[in-house]
Amino acid sequence: MTGTKNATLLLVFLATIGSGLYSGAKGQGSATLQTEKTTSDSRQTGALSFEFFKTRVQPIFLKNRGEHARCYGCHILSNRIFHLEPLSPGSTDWSDEQSQRNFQSALEVVNPDDPPSSKLLLHPLAPEAGGDPFHSGGRQFASQSDPDWLAMAEWVRAVLAEADTDSASHPLIRIYVTNSAGDTIDAVDPATNKVVQVIHGIELPHGIAFSPDGARIYVSNEAESALDVVDRKSGKILSKVPLSGRPNNLTITKDGSQVLVGIRVKSGALDVIDTVSLKNVKSIPVDGPVHNVFVTPDGRYAVSGSIESKIATVVDLQSQQMAWEVKFDRSVRPLAFDTNPDGSTRRIFVQLSGVHGFAVVDFAKRAEVERIKLPDQPSGFGVAEGRAGIPSHGIAVAPDGKSLWVDSTLANSVFEYSLPDLKLIGHAELPEVHPVDHAPTGAIPDWIAFTPDSKLVYVADSALRLVSVIDAHTLKEVARIPVGEVPKRMNTLVVP
Ligand code: HEC
Repeated sequence: MTGTKNATLLLVFLATIGSGLYSGAKGQGSATLQTEKTTSDSRQTGALSFEFFKTRVQPIFLKNRGEHARCYGCHILSNRIFHLEPLSPGSTDWSDEQSQRNFQSALEVVNPDDPPSSKLLLHPLAPEAGGDPFHSGGRQFASQSDPDWLAMAEWVRAVLAEADTDSASHPLIRIYVTNSAGDTIDAVDPATNKVVQVIHGIELPHGIAFSPDGARIYVSNEAESALDVVDRKSGKILSKVPLSGRPNNLTITKDGSQVLVGIRVKSGALDVIDTVSLKNVKSIPVDGPVHNVFVTPDGRYAVSGSIESKIATVVDLQSQQMAWEVKFDRSVRPLAFDTNPDGSTRRIFVQLSGVHGFAVVDFAKRAEVERIKLPDQPSGFGVAEGRAGIPSHGIAVAPDGKSLWVDSTLANSVFEYSLPDLKLIGHAELPEVHPVDHAPTGAIPDWIAFTPDSKLVYVADSALRLVSVIDAHTLKEVARIPVGEVPKRMNTLVVP
């Protein structure tokens, strides 16, 4: 989505809200159909963001916040940018109509091309916390973790998400990021590298997968030991399917008929959720509590890994039984696969605790055949962060099958290897954390995702509330996307 288009959408959206009537851009030639569709979409969800504004954002403008003068006190002046309606005599809150006008005023200080730079967020924020140098109303928010400031930031993202909803051309591509220490999931549009949707209400979200048609999102919910089923367009949670224990990661069969959820309890199991009945129909026992689970690219097997038992278990998806397993000397972390020319699985690349590199398992031999160590340079990270025990967490094969990407916490980088020969191509450096009182630390990279054309690589910088976007060709970081708290797992959705 281009900036201009985005601005246009926001205007259409404003007009709709303002008049309360459908007012599509009739008579604009060939653009009409597209605009009408967008308008009705925006309107539907526009109601949501107005509600959010009225209940969560507007009260901030009236509230006594510590030693600060209230926004209301100054911003009711008629010539003020970001004008607020004066309350009617005797009332303590705005009417719906007044709220609509406040809503429009607030939209004027939202930047549709770059939500984080919206004046609403930056002007009242302390400069030390990244805000504008001066606001006559003072440093209303000392930091970006002030709950009131966060509510405004959430609203700004929701507004933009609405303007965007499905207006994009197809195929629709989104990179979803689960924020492992929060209760949000962010969806990034790789055309703009901006967050265009935030899903709320899943505390401790772990893994994420999609129905093949993109209508539904499945999330393993650690806080409630459930599989949450989300309507992708609206972001609403449709159902919570109880699991046999606390989950970690999940995966979905290629035909979309079953979601397999790794259960991180003593005995270890893969819960099988039927996506039609939305029932937990079976628990396949595996060796040890499950951390991650993946379906092989040919769709025939599921492979799970255990931190506790140090075993990777291969499950035959036809018989739904354990087929074989590989035992390691270290805890099993994320896995990735490459394939033979006929599409069958050739190797499993296995990350292990305490190993700055990965093990290579030959799928036909059912055994580890090689262990690749990542380069010693760059280095210097991971110790101050207390993460040296998991030097490398995050490994993935690009969609074109030509390269393997491996995160390094110690190098604060992601390394690229060619496939099938596993030659080191190079690395891309990740951003640093700059605390005020000690040396810079690392981003603690966690998960890797790609655009379907393999041109952009997304790395979750878990220590920075960011996702780094790497150009796969130049190995340079081309964008940083602010997301939620401790972003970890990611997955790419493609709606045909
Ligand atoms: C003491 C008066 C005062 C208070 C209190 C106040 N403001 Fe302001 N605000 C101003 C003035 C004056 C401006 C015009 C620009 C400037 O001088 O900073 C302004 C500008 C702004 C702008 C627009 C910046 C632009 O350039 O478009 C925003 C947004 C804003 N304030 C938000 C807030 C919010 C949110 C609060 C409450 C949390 C608040 N203000 C509290 C006086 C105030």
